[in-house]
Amino acid sequence: MRRQIAKAMGPVLSHVPVAMWPRIVSRFTGVLTPRAMTPHQTPSGSGGANVRLLFDFLDKAAGIDGDVAECGVWRGRTLIAMGLYLKQAGSPKKLWGFDSFAGFDEAVPHNFKNTSSDVVEGKAAIFGLSNVTIVPGYFRESFKAVENRRFSFVHIDCDVYDSYVECLSFFYPRMAPGGVILFDEYDDPDWPGAKRAVDEFCRSSGASVEFAEKDNFRKSYIRAT
Ligand SMILES: C[S@@+](CC[C@H](N)C(=O)[O-])C[C@H]1O[C@@H](n2cnc3c(N)ncnc32)[C@H](O)[C@@H]1O
Repeated sequence: MRRQIAKAMGPVLSHVPVAMWPRIVSRFTGVLTPRAMTPHQTPSGSGGANVRLLFDFLDKAAGIDGDVAECGVWRGRTLIAMGLYLKQAGSPKKLWGFDSFAGFDEAVPHNFKNTSSDVVEGKAAIFGLSNVTIVPGYFRESFKAVENRRFSFVHIDCDVYDSYVECLSFFYPRMAPGGVILFDEYDDPDWPGAKRAVDEFCRSSGASVEFAEKDNFRKSYIRAT
C-alpha cells in the first residue's frame, strides 16, 4: 500500500525539493528527509544518519571532482535522499550504493535483513534517479566496479569493524583532495568496531578525525589531502 502511494506520487515528488517534503511523506516513501528528523535532546553519536548533515556535505562536495558513494544502503533511506538532492541540484555526480542486501547474523539485534537490491532500485525508479547505481554484493567484490573512479564524498554506514576497515582502505586512496569520508557510527556505543577501525586507520595513514553536528547528531569524518 505504502509502495503504491509512493509510486503514484513519485513523479510529482521528484520535482519538489526533498528538503521541503512534509514529514509524513518520509513514512510512505521510506526516504529520510530533513523535516522527518527529530533532534536529539543532547549531543549524541548514536541514532542513525542525519540527512541535513549529508546534504551539507553534498553541497561542499559540489566543488570537488569525483563521484559520491554510500557503503551500507539497507532500504535506501539515505541513498535515495542523496540521489534526489543531487538530481534536484542539477549535479552531474554519479551516486553509488554498495550493500550485500543480506544484512547481519540473526544474533545481531537490528540485522538489516528486510531488504533487497530490488527494493532500492524500485525506489530509485519511482523518482527517476538515473544518477544512482546500486552494486549488490559484499564490499570485497562489489568495490571492483569503481576501482578506477575518484570520489568527492563517501558515507560509511556499515556498522561493523571489518566492513569499516574494507571501506577505509578502498576509498581513502581514491578520494580527491578535499574529499570527505563521513562515518555514521564513529561515536555510537552500539557499534564500537567503527571507532576502533577509524582510529587504527588514522594512526597508520596520518588522517585525523573531525566532527560535524546538526540537530544534536554528532558525526565524525576524515578529509583527504
Ligand atoms: C545501518 S545499515 C545502512 C542504513 C542506511 N544507510 C540507512 O540510513 O537507512 C548497514 C548496512 O551495511 C551493510 N553491510 C555491512 N557490511 C557490509 C559488507 N561488508 N558488504 C556489504 N554490505 C555490508 C548491511 O547489509 C546493512 O544493510
